[in-house]
Amino acid sequence: MEKKRGAFSNKMGFVLAAAGSAVGLGNLWRFPYLAAKYGGGIFLLVYLILAVTLGFTLMITEIAIGRKTGLSAVGAFRKLDKRFGFVGYLACIVPFIITPYYCVIGGWVIKYLITFVSGNVSAAAGDDYFTGFISQAGSPVLWFAVFVLLTSIVVIAGVEKGIEKASRILMPVLIVLTLGISIFCITRPGAAEGVKYYLLPDFSRFSATTVLAAMGQLFYSMSLAMGIMITYGSYMKKDNSLEKSVRQIEIFDTGIAFLAGLMIIPSVFVFSGGNEEALGKGPSLMFITLPKVFDNMTLGGIIGAVFFLLVLFAALTSSISLMETNVSIIRDKLGWSRKKTTITVTIYVLLLGALVSLGFGPLDFIQIIGLGLLDFFDFLSNSVLMPIVAILTCISIGFFIKPKAVYDEVELNGPFKMKKFYTIMLKWIAPICLIMILIFAVSEAMG
Ligand code: PFF
Repeated sequence: MEKKRGAFSNKMGFVLAAAGSAVGLGNLWRFPYLAAKYGGGIFLLVYLILAVTLGFTLMITEIAIGRKTGLSAVGAFRKLDKRFGFVGYLACIVPFIITPYYCVIGGWVIKYLITFVSGNVSAAAGDDYFTGFISQAGSPVLWFAVFVLLTSIVVIAGVEKGIEKASRILMPVLIVLTLGISIFCITRPGAAEGVKYYLLPDFSRFSATTVLAAMGQLFYSMSLAMGIMITYGSYMKKDNSLEKSVRQIEIFDTGIAFLAGLMIIPSVFVFSGGNEEALGKGPSLMFITLPKVFDNMTLGGIIGAVFFLLVLFAALTSSISLMETNVSIIRDKLGWSRKKTTITVTIYVLLLGALVSLGFGPLDFIQIIGLGLLDFFDFLSNSVLMPIVAILTCISIGFFIKPKAVYDEVELNGPFKMKKFYTIMLKWIAPICLIMILIFAVSEAMG
């Protein structure tokens, strides 16, 4: 039995909704720390090249098959070719891995928001504040739980409409604020070095690891290779231009990530010396560097509070769409009620996420293939599962279902401008690069 599908009302509706899910902690938290770690300019360059090639190819494919079939991942693949339903299932695993640790970071954001609101800016700017906080057992788990519950309440209530309206106002505010803070950061004395590091590629730092990290980030940031865009496509109206929408989502998502990097990386040079160690801080970078920036700003306390509020909002819109995805996968399969399913998923997220959170404290002895728990789950989804899903998507559509399925859908809105390029990418370049990268990721992890 097929349910009647809702559709996004106006032209920008689809782009904004997709961007609302895409723009989140991936852009504000994950992109800057990876760029800092993997050589700045070279990472940025590789990322941009991947976005307009691999990102474009996968996003247009996913949205097209979603809109064509009117179904989400499993159903869509199955309807196109019975043998490939399993690709949809594989894609569905990804959000289950990401959601718990995503909410852990969400909890950190709440903690920082509270710290700023209560006026403890200089405490937050202290060197050991962050590590001191995440290595505790109680507090980070508590804030994580608050974040999960906020997410679950919205998913149970299904107040997507309100969230959508709010994102329309808050997203532009986030852009303006990020732009303002970046300008403040890059005009500090000593920031020029950082701007150079971020914008000028140093080719001697290019390696397969850079490409792997950039690619994992691309999937994560654009919500690709996890069935999300297929579902979004199924809600898209037939008269909206697919090619144009994909380009707009990419520009939006990449633009915000770019600004976040411009805000954080030069600050690492100003406040933490910009040495290898400071740049390689990883997941904690946003929480260590930005408080120092705010501490040095007039009205920094207030600006910091507003900033973390907006980050929280971006994180929530993304975590809601992540949890919603988990819920709808289970409901489609088992036919449970929304409430029962959401509660079950919430318990799962609370359990696994608490483990991830404790992995920074009492459980920090747990290491899987040399990685802490958060990094392990991140590696599993971004460097292993998503490339596999992406390879299978390219091969199944490229050689079995045939790219015509995608052409036809795109051409409903006029000529497919990038058709030749798309076809070569889909059938050859993307799968070959993805397979190489996957082999590299696995051998790195094993060795
Ligand atoms: N793309 C989001 C981000 O960059 O933060 C993460 C995400 C949200 C992935 C929602 C998947 C999803 F369904």
